[in-house]
Amino acid sequence: MCPPAPAGVTGNDPGGVTVAMRLFSLALNPAADHAAGYGVAQSAVLDDDQMQAAAAEIRTWPGYAPTSLVSLPGLAAALGIAELHYKDEGTRFGLGSFKPLGGAYAVFRAVARSVAERTGEMPSSRELLDGAHRDSAGGITVCAATDGNHGRSVAWGAHTFGCRCVIYITESVTPAREQAIAAFGAEVVRHPGSYDDAVRAVAERAEREGWLVIPDTSDGSSVTVPRDVMAGYTLMAEEAIGQLPEGRPPTHLFLQAGVGGMAAAVCAKFWRTYGHQRPFTLSVEPAQCACWYHSLIAGHPVAVTGEIDSVMAGLACGEVSRLAWPILHTGADAAMTVEDPLAPEAMRLLAAAPHGDLPLVGGESGVAGLAGLLAVAGDVPARRTIGLDHSSRVLLFGTEGDTDAENYTLLVGRSGAEVRYSAAAFTGEHQ
Ligand SMILES: Cc1ncc(COP(=O)(O)O)c(C=O)c1O
Repeated sequence: MCPPAPAGVTGNDPGGVTVAMRLFSLALNPAADHAAGYGVAQSAVLDDDQMQAAAAEIRTWPGYAPTSLVSLPGLAAALGIAELHYKDEGTRFGLGSFKPLGGAYAVFRAVARSVAERTGEMPSSRELLDGAHRDSAGGITVCAATDGNHGRSVAWGAHTFGCRCVIYITESVTPAREQAIAAFGAEVVRHPGSYDDAVRAVAERAEREGWLVIPDTSDGSSVTVPRDVMAGYTLMAEEAIGQLPEGRPPTHLFLQAGVGGMAAAVCAKFWRTYGHQRPFTLSVEPAQCACWYHSLIAGHPVAVTGEIDSVMAGLACGEVSRLAWPILHTGADAAMTVEDPLAPEAMRLLAAAPHGDLPLVGGESGVAGLAGLLAVAGDVPARRTIGLDHSSRVLLFGTEGDTDAENYTLLVGRSGAEVRYSAAAFTGEHQ
């Protein structure tokens, strides 16, 4: 059990951006080594071949399209930075989040490996999609624990590649998120306790039943599947790198973290691409489930216990992924926590776009990076600590849209559909 996060810092309002309560914590990572190369420890987690193989594979899938990288110059000016870019994952494969890049890719790999064990040949995704191994694939059950988006992506992957699927959800997962998983034909089991409890329960059940577990985290004992998940996530970073303005890479990345797989994958891609010139990288977590914040300060993985619950449901994890650790342990330059009310504030800000930018639909967990930026941008000492100034170029990954449409409407006061309607009108006016 670790101590509660230190009290947040409050600061001046940056250029009219209204954040009712700016409570956050910020700590530099004592083990950060910005000058270090992407070394043996990091390559043992993810190497170039794995990243390239995942990207090449996912690009062939039906419905694949890069998500938009949206520039927000009005908000950037209000925050006193040079550029702000938001990678909008709300449209990824029609599932509303970045997660299919990891979960569905890992399902494909697990099914392909299992078919290969029976047939002696690794099938392509095209063959699986065409039903060439329907009998083999149909005999496989994949399973996963989730607080929402990962389970949806695994269920979609199972539906796409022709196998059975069982998803364990936590007590706090809303009925809307549960239905979204069941809609792909998955059996959904509601498990008491936290996300970490559900991870353990599904692993035990899989062991008994002979199912293939698709975890998005690792306790260190099994790494093959969580590595596939992280390899898939790197495509999101690769797309962003290709979409950023030529010659002006980001100076700062604010990456929301649950178990840290997403943040580590993005950090790895930027590290391999820019070396020691990579952006200053911060992890951002809900204050009450800040396992990365506490682990990075401690210098070793620390489990957070107690009330592991947050409006940022996808980030409500108490234990870091041991697979992500070798990357973020030295690759993250700083760690942040944000209080829950900052997430809905960030959602409303994106939707209202009061600084003349394109209105955007960002979900609770997807805007945590923005919430972190808003908090730091309004605080002079915090800005100084991370070197955020008028020349900074910030990149955010908006990792989900309105994946829970009801909750989105409740928190923002308008539906995602209404915000998208204003976005379409904005685009029409600015063409
Ligand atoms: C929308 C969203 N963003 C970010 C994350 C964090 O990813 P990770 O658990 O790999 O840190 C999640 C995890 O479920 C998520 O659903």
